[in-house]
Amino acid sequence: MAQIGKDISQAKSLLEQGQLVGIPTETVYGLAGNALNPDAVAKIFATKNRPVFDPLILHTSALERVHEFVIEIPFPLDLLAAKFWPGPLTLLLPKKGIVPDLVTSGLDTVAVRVPNHPLTQQLLSELDFPLAAPSANPFGYISPTKASHVEDQLGEKIAYILDGGDCEVGLESTIVGIEEGKVTVYRLGGLDLNDIKEVVGEVNVMTHSTSNPKSPGMLKSHYSPTKPFIIGNLKVLISEYSKKGIPFAVISFHQTFPSINHAKQIQLSKVGDLNEAAKNLFAAMRTLDTMDVSVILSELLPEDGLGRAINDRLRRAAVQ
Ligand code: TXA
Ligand code: MG
Repeated sequence: MAQIGKDISQAKSLLEQGQLVGIPTETVYGLAGNALNPDAVAKIFATKNRPVFDPLILHTSALERVHEFVIEIPFPLDLLAAKFWPGPLTLLLPKKGIVPDLVTSGLDTVAVRVPNHPLTQQLLSELDFPLAAPSANPFGYISPTKASHVEDQLGEKIAYILDGGDCEVGLESTIVGIEEGKVTVYRLGGLDLNDIKEVVGEVNVMTHSTSNPKSPGMLKSHYSPTKPFIIGNLKVLISEYSKKGIPFAVISFHQTFPSINHAKQIQLSKVGDLNEAAKNLFAAMRTLDTMDVSVILSELLPEDGLGRAINDRLRRAAVQ
């Protein structure tokens, strides 16, 4: 199994040898390799079982270094970069030749992000190459928000996991680019859409695509637990599944259900805070997915702030 620790120099030396390391970010844990080394990048795809047509995000330590990898940061994406990096924002930018085609799946844009986590910031600033890092989960499954999540699923395939504790944001980065001259959001995520609108005005939201998706994270079924995941009015669902005698577990925003064993229900935020709910969402899905139940029941959260990105993940989890 992978070793788990806080040893940045060990992580650094493994990455320099072309190995993969689990890294913490404020959004979710990443499965990192040297983005400029095609062999290391190929290992990322193989380790995750990820199709090579699904491009990776390139992570670097600071805005100034982004220019080594992209031709430009066009207006008004430059305003977003200046305001929100380091942070849960990924920009799609025209790539330079130095970025291997394998990273971008042959596209002429590269997804770039400056993550905001002290350990990974330090690691990135000590490395002389950027890191390609998808979420550290098998393709299609829920993203990891704790080092132990990475260990559970990829521990046998990688040497080291840098332990940065629980991810503060808990949802993947928001992906933004420009399409036909308009700022376009391709994945709702940890940076609130309203914060983006405050800087650039109205934006296109294009997060769904059924065929030939620009980004496979746009596929309707993604970020999914193994168990059937049903969304609806929890009171109605609970009574229906109780009557049918089908064992279930429940994810709610803040409501508790006295008739249900407390181990089989998780409140995402007892005080009804959407940021806290985002932080707890993926761990809750994982916990209930490994429990001895046949189905997970959930409800949608209010569609404001991070609620919109949370609901996006819940809806995708519910598509079988
Ligand atoms: O928060 C995050 O973004 C995390 C942490 C580790 O940084 N990473 C992450 O990576 O979620 P991943 O690979 O699980 O999701 C990246 C998404 C994929 O849906 C991919 O298709 C899309 O970004 N993507 C990457 N490069 C792209 C490009 N050039 N054009 C369009 N979509 C792209
Ligand atoms: Mg992912």
